[in-house]
Parts: sequence; structure tokens; C-alpha cells
Amino acid sequence: MDDVLSFAVFLLTGVPLIAMLSVLTPLLRLLRIFPRSLSIDEQSLAGKVVIVTGCNTGIGLQTAKLLAHKGAAVVMACRSVEKAAAAAAATSPGAGSFHPIELDLADLKSVTRFVRSFEDQFGASHLHALVCNAGVPAKLGTRTVQGFEMAFGVSFIGHFALVLELLPRLKRCGGRVVTLSSVMHRFAQPGCSANWNHAAFDTYPMHLRVFTSSYSDAKSAMVLLAVALRARGIASSAVNPGAAAVPCVAPIISAEPLEHLYLSPYWVPSRLPVLDLAGPFVGAFPNLSKPEQAGAQGVALDAERLWSWGETVLQASHDREAQSQLGRAS
Ligand SMILES: NC(=O)c1ccc[n+]([C@@H]2O[C@H](COP(=O)([O-])OP(=O)(O)OC[C@H]3O[C@@H](n4cnc5c(N)ncnc54)[C@H](OP(=O)(O)O)[C@@H]3O)[C@@H](O)[C@H]2O)c1
Repeated sequence: MDDVLSFAVFLLTGVPLIAMLSVLTPLLRLLRIFPRSLSIDEQSLAGKVVIVTGCNTGIGLQTAKLLAHKGAAVVMACRSVEKAAAAAAATSPGAGSFHPIELDLADLKSVTRFVRSFEDQFGASHLHALVCNAGVPAKLGTRTVQGFEMAFGVSFIGHFALVLELLPRLKRCGGRVVTLSSVMHRFAQPGCSANWNHAAFDTYPMHLRVFTSSYSDAKSAMVLLAVALRARGIASSAVNPGAAAVPCVAPIISAEPLEHLYLSPYWVPSRLPVLDLAGPFVGAFPNLSKPEQAGAQGVALDAERLWSWGETVLQASHDREAQSQLGRAS
């Protein structure tokens, strides 16, 4: 019954919103409020090493292509090296180069393995930028290997573990960090620190689950991560890429038939040009905004709370792993 009510809320709010956007977007584009393309400066990135997570497709791939064309060595940190290699083979790296290395952000052990492989290939001193791009939508009942809710676990927990491992090197090399957020960060739960483990995620009403729950918290956490990194002397920016025409809702295949219905009004216009607010993949060249502008009052405090909460849960996760290894050995 709750889900039916929740669906009614969606019909009353989501459908008129989509209809309004469908009419307004072409109009705004005519008025040049949403540009179709942006000019990119010509600065060379030759000799720079940049890691981009989840860049075998979508915004990450366009970012990787652009960086390589400007001369960077782009480390394609992807959960499937085969997919990354295929994407790299289909693209000319221009003046730069592509280096696929396996990274599954849904498994903290894979994060550690990735950092070791990266060190083996690039030595101890390189890393000019890290683009924390990979992300997945919230999907009912899915958890990372270490048990975090999937959308939050991949976007925030996995990237946070990666940032922690790379932090000394980023500091040494003066490396920058870019985190991918979304307009959805605005729907994060207020004071969500208490719920960051999303233990109750599966019991949220459907409209919270699909639109405003863990995905929004994850995207808010990515803004806070950029803020916390700045406080630690790392040049960092949180990016809202706008709406890029990628099959972003396609992976949401759930046992819940109503969730399909929920997303179908979004899926249809996402296949048509009307919702393509930024033009196909122009989202890869985003409006970089200072994280300070993205948050409300107390954002620095929230960023610090998130950082220490993140350190605590990662430590707990390592401790659990060590205990279970001990158990297996004895
Ligand atoms: N598209 C938009 O309109 C939009 C709007 C706002 C924000 N964003 C944000 O922009 C970023 C890129 O989104 P996109 O639209 O380009 O999505 P996408 O096309 O679905 O690409 C997502 C990437 O993340 C990777 N990924 C998923 N789970 C992973 C994991 N466990 N470990 C490592 N990589 C993983 C995917 O790899 P596989 O191919 O193996 O699945 C894929 O390469 C995301 O953070 C998203 O939240 C997008």
C-alpha cells in the first residue's frame, strides 16, 4: 500500500515536471541558456598522469578522451579491464595514452589492488589528478562486497578509500581531485550522517529509494569530499555534469515492477533530444563549481563529520576482514 501511495506521489509530481522540462528545454536552448558546446582551453597536459574511474563509457570516457587528446597519460580505472581496453582501442588517444587498470569500487580489496598496480606501473611520484567519476543509481537490495548500500558504496565509500590510499602521493605531487556530484545532491537527507550506512534503505518508501535516497546522499557526500580535501590542502572541485544523454537509468533492473514504471517516464525522454539539457556528452565538460558554493551553512563541519565517519567505517571494515582471516587461519 505504501508503494502504491508513493507511486501516486510520483505521478502527481514527476510527470508534470518531465512534461514541463520537455517544453522548456528546447525553448531555453533557443534562447541559448543551455549551450550545445563549450570551448576547452588548449593547455597541454603532456607528461601528466590522470586517473579517471569508471571511464569505459559515458561521461568518464569522454573525460578520458579529452584528457588524452591534451596529452595526458590516462589511467582507466574500470571494473572491467576488457571493457576499458575495448573503449581505449576504439578511440585515438591523440597526443596522450590510455592505461586500463582494474578497479571495482564495490570491493575495498580491489581498491588496494588497484593502488598497488598503479604504483607498479607509474612509480611512487606520479599523479597529477584523480577524477572520481564512477557511479551507479540506487537499486533495491544491492550491497557492495563489504556490505554498504551499492550507490553510496560505489560513489562515496569506494572513492573515499581510494582517496585515502592516494592522499600522500596527491600531496607530494600537488595532485588535484575532481568528484562527480549531481543536482540530486540537493535531495540528500538533512543531517544524513546518522543514516550514511543506509541500513534502512530497503525499507524507504519507493519515491525516496529511487530519487532521493542513497544516490542523493552519495552525490552530496561527493561535494563534501571535495570540501574536506580542500581543507587538507588538495585542490579539489565537485562537478555537476548536468544531464548527459547516457543510458543512466538502464541499469536499474529490479525485482520491483513498480520501480520500472517509476523510471519509464524518465527513460523515454532520455532517449529523445528533449531532455538532453547539455547536449550529448557535453556533460563531460561541466560547469566546475566551487564546493563552497554548492553547500548550505555548516558544510565544512559536515565535510569533517563525513571524513571521520568514513575513516571509522573503513577501519571497522578492515578489522572485520582481519578477524575473519584470523578465524579462517585458526
Ligand atoms: N548522466 C548524467 O546525466 C549524470 C547527471 C549527474 C551526475 N552524473 C554522474 O556522472 C558520473 C558518470 O555517470 P554516467 O552518466 O557517465 O554513467 P554511466 O555511463 O553509467 O557510467 C558509469 C561508469 O561507472 C562505472 N562503474 C559502475 N560501478 C562501478 C564499480 N563498482 N567500480 C568501478 N566502476 C564502476 C561503470 O562501469 P561499467 O560499464 O562496468 O558498469 C561506468 O564506467 C556518475 O558519478 C553519475 O552519478 C551523471
